[in-house]
Amino acid sequence: ASSQNLNKFIESLSRNQLLDHPAIVIYAMIGNDVCNGNSDPVPKMTTPEKLYSNVMQTLKHLNSHLPKGSHVIFYGLPDGTFLWDHLHSRYHPLGQLNRDVTYAQLYSFLSCLQVSPCHGWMSSNKTLRTLTSERAEQLSNTLKKIATSKKFMNFDLFYMDFAFQEILGEWQKRGGQPWQLIESVDGFHPNEVASLLLADRFWKKVRRQWPQVLGKENPFNPQIEQVFGDQGGH
Ligand SMILES: *[C@@H]1O[C@H](CO)[C@@H](O)[C@H](O)[C@H]1NC(C)=O
Repeated sequence: ASSQNLNKFIESLSRNQLLDHPAIVIYAMIGNDVCNGNSDPVPKMTTPEKLYSNVMQTLKHLNSHLPKGSHVIFYGLPDGTFLWDHLHSRYHPLGQLNRDVTYAQLYSFLSCLQVSPCHGWMSSNKTLRTLTSERAEQLSNTLKKIATSKKFMNFDLFYMDFAFQEILGEWQKRGGQPWQLIESVDGFHPNEVASLLLADRFWKKVRRQWPQVLGKENPFNPQIEQVFGDQGGH
């Protein structure tokens, strides 16, 4: 979703404000506010002002549905220039056999058909990629500003950066290559390896910076382990 159409989807959220435990809500729209397949994608990107009003609408809705003591964590937008930087000269799976389809060509094909999931970053036009990243950064800053300046009755509010550089560093330390973190077929989404690393880092940061979000440890943990054994935290 984007900050815009989330306000439709969020109507499916169901909570009992009196009887439910506090919720942990992760607000992570990631790319959709800057990503679209238009031939000129910039006018279709969410502006900081529009993001602000979309997010405030979402937060009002959450405040009227979440149990008291809940937590909402904003996740920032990524800087998607790493897609082009790490993929453009590599072969897409369709072109690996005959060494004839690179990601640069795939991106251009998708844009030509106007079905690119993110023309702004999946483009050979460096000016456009930079513009897309600049907008993404402005939107992240807007989220950060809301998180530090707004108060709500039923939840507290946090902001966390989309730390792709950090997981990239961690992956490279383990001997991995940057392109191995991107879904090979669409050349766009983070793949399962990246998702695992991002999730791991996310929960570590929450535990370190805002331990109150996770609350008290489940008093039944020893009994659960007795029945199910050690399943690595699941
Ligand atoms: C590159 O993108 C910028 C920003 O959208 C645009 O103004 C410019 O015309 C594009 N250049 C080419 C060669 O398409």
